[in-house]
Amino acid sequence: MRNKAVLSDLHLVKEGVLSHGLDTTERLRAGVAAINARHADADFCVLAGDLADLGDAEAYERLKDCLADLSVPLHITIGNHDNRDTFLEVFGAEYAADTGCVDKVIDAKGQRVILLDSAVTGQHGGRLEPVQLNWLSTRLAEAHDVPVTVILHHHANPLRTKVDRIILENGPEFVAVLKTHDQIRQVIAGHVHYTSTAMWQGVPFTTLAGGHYNVTIPLGPDADPVRLDGPAQMAVVLSDDQQTLVHFDNYLDASVVLQAGA
Ligand SMILES: [Fe+2]
Repeated sequence: MRNKAVLSDLHLVKEGVLSHGLDTTERLRAGVAAINARHADADFCVLAGDLADLGDAEAYERLKDCLADLSVPLHITIGNHDNRDTFLEVFGAEYAADTGCVDKVIDAKGQRVILLDSAVTGQHGGRLEPVQLNWLSTRLAEAHDVPVTVILHHHANPLRTKVDRIILENGPEFVAVLKTHDQIRQVIAGHVHYTSTAMWQGVPFTTLAGGHYNVTIPLGPDADPVRLDGPAQMAVVLSDDQQTLVHFDNYLDASVVLQAGA
């Protein structure tokens, strides 16, 4: 079994600062502890962006510090709250692919995982640049006979809620490239702070709620109110020759715990 843990939307802030009343560093430490305790068999962990709420170097240094406790290998891409240059200064230029973005390909146990950096400086919506789509096309072609999972920060498929205002703006172009490969097992995103699954244009898409908070968003592009009410959540991706399965592990502030057997 190929097993991956995906954390997203950590939104680390400066020391002593809370975000929506939450200590996001403590929440990340809980996520790292949950992986070490329950998913230590994972081949690796992926961070799917929005690592630092304001993209500052102090937050990236704290991220590095928290991740030092992680017991599995780590791979990272960034989101709209991140600052690409500052991230690369703190973590190292080797985190950028030859696209200039924080893209990465990981091959493990006969399957391929591709991380894409969908952040666009100065805006909350996402985009994949032509150089990245070309790079993706090449990475897919060279792995035409193995299952592929793609992980990026922004959702590409319309979710029919307000978050579509900050969607990946060239989703159809992205899907056209994905469809050149016939074993795209999952496309996994964070960004929207809630859980969804979809089949869009023949490709399976998933979002996870991430580590900051989980929102309840009523359906409809203008519907209110948005409630910030749920747990911290990671995705655990289990993949073998037959299927790719996404579990959701609510590792902090999960709902009511019922008494077993009662
Ligand atoms: Fe985001």
